[in-house]
Amino acid sequence: MAILEKHKILEKNATLLLVASFLVVTVGGIVEIAPLFYIENTIEEVEGVRPYTPLELTGRDIYIREGCYVCHSQMIRPMRDEVERYGHYSLAAESMYDHPFQWGSKRTGPDLARVGGRYSDEWHVDHLTNPQSVVPESVMPKYGFLSDRMIEPTYITDLLETHRLVGVPYSDEMIEAAAEDFKAQADPDSDYDGLLERYSNAQVRNFDGAPGISEMDALIAYLQVLGTMVDFSTFELDPNR
Ligand code: HEC
Repeated sequence: MAILEKHKILEKNATLLLVASFLVVTVGGIVEIAPLFYIENTIEEVEGVRPYTPLELTGRDIYIREGCYVCHSQMIRPMRDEVERYGHYSLAAESMYDHPFQWGSKRTGPDLARVGGRYSDEWHVDHLTNPQSVVPESVMPKYGFLSDRMIEPTYITDLLETHRLVGVPYSDEMIEAAAEDFKAQADPDSDYDGLLERYSNAQVRNFDGAPGISEMDALIAYLQVLGTMVDFSTFELDPNR
C-alpha cells in the first residue's frame, strides 16, 4: 500500500518523525486552546450562584487550613449512585468562585458539595466537636478547639480583595462593608439588611449557639451554604448546549 510505504519514510527517520509529531501536537493544541481566548466565559452562569459572604469565606479558609479536603470531596459526579446519595450532580458554576476549588477525589468521608441544610447547626457543633458521639464508627478527627478560637475580621478586607484579584466579582461596596457583614451574619440581633442585599439568601444565625464569633461559627456558616445556592426545583439545563 502506497500510503504505508510513504509512512515508512517518517518512521525510519527519527528527526523527521519528531518534527512531524511536533506539528501535529501544535495544530491540535491551537485548535483546543485558541477558542478559549475568544469566548467570554467557559462556565455557563447559573442563577443563584453568588460569591461567598465574608464569614463563609473565612470558614472556607478554616476548612482548607484543617485539611478537611484530605477526606472530603466537593463534586458530585453525574452517576446514578452519586446522584441518588448526594443530590443533583455538581454544576461547574457552583464552584466558579472557589479559589482554589475543592473538587477532590479522595472520599474517606462523604462528599460535602450539598451538605448545606442537610443537618442542623447543633448537629454540626456536636459532630465537629466529637464525631464519634453522633456516628460511633467515624474515623473523623475532633475539631472542638474551633469553638475556643475567637475571630475578628482584621484581615477580611484583604481576603476579599485577594479573591477579587483572581476574578471573584466582589464590588467596592462589598469590600467596604466586609467587616460589618462578617459580624452581622453571626448575630441575628444585628442590622443585617445590607448583608442580605449584597449576598442573596445569606443565612444569618448564631451558628455555634455560643457568644462571640468563633472559628466554629465561620466553618458551620460555610458548611451550611454548600450546594444551596442553586434552586434545583426551578433549574433547567440550557437545551442549546
Ligand atoms: C480522617 C478523615 C477526615 C477528616 C480529616 C475530616 N473528616 Fe469529615 N468525615 C469523615 C468520615 C469518615 C465521615 C463519615 C462519618 C461521620 O459522619 O463522622 C465524615 C463526615 C463528615 C460530615 C457529615 C457528612 C454527611 O453527609 O453525613 C461533615 C459535615 C464533615 N465530615 C465535615 C468535616 C470537616 C468540616 C472537616 C475539617 C474540619 C472534616 N470533616 C475532616 C472523615 C474525615
